[in-house]
Amino acid sequence: MKNIDSKLIEALRAKHVAGEPVKVLFVCLGNICRSPAAEGLMEAVVATHGDRHNWVIDSAGTGDYHIGDLPDRRMRAHAARRGYDLTHRCRQISVSDFFDFDLIIGMDESNLRNLRRLAPTVETEQKIMPMSAFFDDTRHYDYVPDPYYEGAEGFELVLDLLQGATENLYNAIATN
Ligand code: 4NP
Repeated sequence: MKNIDSKLIEALRAKHVAGEPVKVLFVCLGNICRSPAAEGLMEAVVATHGDRHNWVIDSAGTGDYHIGDLPDRRMRAHAARRGYDLTHRCRQISVSDFFDFDLIIGMDESNLRNLRRLAPTVETEQKIMPMSAFFDDTRHYDYVPDPYYEGAEGFELVLDLLQGATENLYNAIATN
């Protein structure tokens, strides 16, 4: 993993050490493919570490096309094959999310641009980070590509990237 030189991550490490819940919101465009997968994988990571009570994990979309829907059936099928049950209901990000969450993670550059535009204050804008900050150095990607118009390989790629990134995110905040 890249060396994450981030005041935000440092602050969240301190919060975790103090036993306060770390609140993470994953964001993509539709909130039916990438961000609900990131949410489900992160839930699994914290559960594996016996650390569920120290985290609030959610996801949202910048768009409003699928509000109330379960994740895309292709995303659910690919995730299920790896043992993840994705049950999130699609919702659109709101201004209050920028105050309620500590860390707001965008999947690609377009998501990040939208998040910066929507952030209500300078302080809340500083909560935004790219998912790629947590990729392994060996990955040949610098964003999580939108799989919506892709085939099976697009969904597998998203899960590969997110499995590594969620584990690295956990380790960046929760380990010494
Ligand atoms: P996501 O994928 O941003 O990873 O949830 C998409 C899902 C739906 C649409 C676009 C991207 N859409 O245009 O409906």
